Amino acid sequence: MAEPGRGIDRWERYCQAAEGFTEYWYPAMASPKLGSKPQAVRIAGRDMVMVRSGGRAYALEDVCPHRRIPLSEGRCEFEHTISCVYHGWTFDLRSGALVAALTDGPDSPIVGKVSVRRFPVEERAGLVWVWTGDGEPVPVEDDIPEELLRADAIIVPLLRKVEGNWRYATENGFDESHGKFLHRTAWWVFFKRMSGWNVTEIVRSPDGKWLTRAQMEVHADDDYPGLGRWPRFNLFQRRAKSVAQGSNKHPVSVRLPGTLRVVQPDSADWTHYEWYVPATRNTYRYLVLAVTWGGALKRALFHLRYWTYILWVHHYGFNNQDLRVVKLMPDTHPERLFRPDVSITAWRRMCEEEARRLPPKTTGTIPAAAE
Ligand code: FES
Ligand SMILES: [Fe+2]
Repeated sequence: MAEPGRGIDRWERYCQAAEGFTEYWYPAMASPKLGSKPQAVRIAGRDMVMVRSGGRAYALEDVCPHRRIPLSEGRCEFEHTISCVYHGWTFDLRSGALVAALTDGPDSPIVGKVSVRRFPVEERAGLVWVWTGDGEPVPVEDDIPEELLRADAIIVPLLRKVEGNWRYATENGFDESHGKFLHRTAWWVFFKRMSGWNVTEIVRSPDGKWLTRAQMEVHADDDYPGLGRWPRFNLFQRRAKSVAQGSNKHPVSVRLPGTLRVVQPDSADWTHYEWYVPATRNTYRYLVLAVTWGGALKRALFHLRYWTYILWVHHYGFNNQDLRVVKLMPDTHPERLFRPDVSITAWRRMCEEEARRLPPKTTGTIPAAAE
């Protein structure tokens, strides 16, 4: 049995958020992936139908109130509407209101009496964002790293639907030590000299939104008593000058609601982002972005670099190692953390104390007049 206070259950709100924190904007997909064919999307425990109509992106609750058929099975018969596949109940995508029950004639008395929930949708940075909250949406820009909103941002997205819980995926992203062991076999680091162990502190960005792993000590390799020297570097790694992973030249940061940023070392000139978008308790939408900033020529060269190298060696080869371990982590488990896990506990504390909450409901009582 887990010792009290040692398990993840020490973090009550975080534990309850098995399907994510709802009061946030989440990226659902890349904008070009949303067309006139309705798609079923589950985010933060909300089942939604997403569709583009009249050039605009929409999301409604994915259920027809008539006989509970998913609206994502339906089709768009008229602009800014979606019709249920079964009997043609037709909902306005802008409001969720039933505007026609086609198979009951234009004077159907049910019209105006029924609606489905609408989820606010915005498009920024080439992505479709959806607000899953029950409260008033904050400006979408509050939940997007500001550098992605720059006009010269060059953003290449990759979305995969994968197994595992979003919390363990986020913890893995910000985990200090696994890169130095799990990823040591990845082709991505074949020419890079990764440190064996570091002493890490977690620092907060000036705007308060990001936690960053700061390396106070970086140890390339060391003697392990009775075992020998580790890690063992290949010829290229021995010649490499810098400590590629786990140095302050390669900062890794995390923020709510489950977003990772990995700035690649200077000469690489790109930044890797990950969103762990919760779907069910055991699945999440894993969105990774390769991002750089510049003009048209840089865009062309970056796309070339992405499709010939970054996609295969990083976003598949390297990140598949992450997907493998996240999938292996059970949903609830006793755990015994060690020194580098300061990154994980800092992230959990951020979730516990700072995740956006639903504003308290007003009771309707009238405050007493000031005397
Ligand atoms: S179930 Fe949707 S219209 Fe009947
Ligand atoms: Fe990793």
